Amino acid sequence: MTDEEFRRIYQLLKSKYGIDMSAKKEIVKGRLENFLRLSKYETYTEFINAMELDITGTLEGKMVDMLTTNHTYFFREPEHFDYLREVVLPELKKRENVNRDLCIWSAACSSGEEPYTLAMIIGEFFGLERDRWDTKVLATDISKEVLDKAARGIYTENQVKELPEHFKRYYFRQVEGTDKYEVKDFLKQEVIFREFNLMNPLPFKRKMHVVFLRNVMIYFDVETKKKLIKKIYDGMEDGGYLFIGKTETIDREDCPFRMIRSSIYKKQQGR
Ligand SMILES: C[S@@+](CC[C@H](N)C(=O)[O-])C[C@H]1O[C@@H](n2cnc3c(N)ncnc32)[C@H](O)[C@@H]1O
Repeated sequence: MTDEEFRRIYQLLKSKYGIDMSAKKEIVKGRLENFLRLSKYETYTEFINAMELDITGTLEGKMVDMLTTNHTYFFREPEHFDYLREVVLPELKKRENVNRDLCIWSAACSSGEEPYTLAMIIGEFFGLERDRWDTKVLATDISKEVLDKAARGIYTENQVKELPEHFKRYYFRQVEGTDKYEVKDFLKQEVIFREFNLMNPLPFKRKMHVVFLRNVMIYFDVETKKKLIKKIYDGMEDGGYLFIGKTETIDREDCPFRMIRSSIYKKQQGR
């Protein structure tokens, strides 16, 4: 990969997706090499040219998938779900008791484990009252591939093994003749999957009560992160909560939210 080829790739990733790979040539090369060898393209230049001409965005999507990680699992960073169950949901239940409509967003949902975990926790919390509330979880990602997987909702035995037994029994069914587990339809109906690039303006009519923005900002540089956090703040209800990955940080000066814990933030106006 020549320096010019690398430049074209990292500039595209940066300008369209906020993904900063400018200091990671070896990683980029390492991840694309095999793909190129098995493809019809002789050189990176040929591949990049084809990608630029491909108005369907398929090649670009493929490249983003190869360069980012979709790693996720059920109940990842369980403290967040405990906090949701013990603090956030009781607070929202009290506050939104008239409209009974909650906007909860898993903003880089990957293959669905995070939004399905949210939907399970919400279901458990509201119990029999759930029918009287609209608590659908919106789940978005830029990768079409992971979104298709998420919507199918089929996971291996290994992927569901850490789930509490009662959740596994209640929300999953074993796919006949396999060791795979499928999310039951009634839980699938509680999650809406959509393609969305976090670099774009938020398309929602309503403001959010809870946003999970976890383990995606690792790709973004300081400026991109700052703009994204501001955008999410503006699109959030007063009193709403933002969860970020436990290894991620937001610069204090760039953060309009009040920090509750190291990865949990609250929008509190007029403080
Ligand atoms: C490591 S996964 C995080 C999954 C889940 N939030 C978690 O914490 O387990 C990161 C996801 O971010 C997505 N992603 C990367 N850049 C994005 C962007 N600009 N807009 C939306 N999603 C993006 C990737 O496709 C990937 O599925």
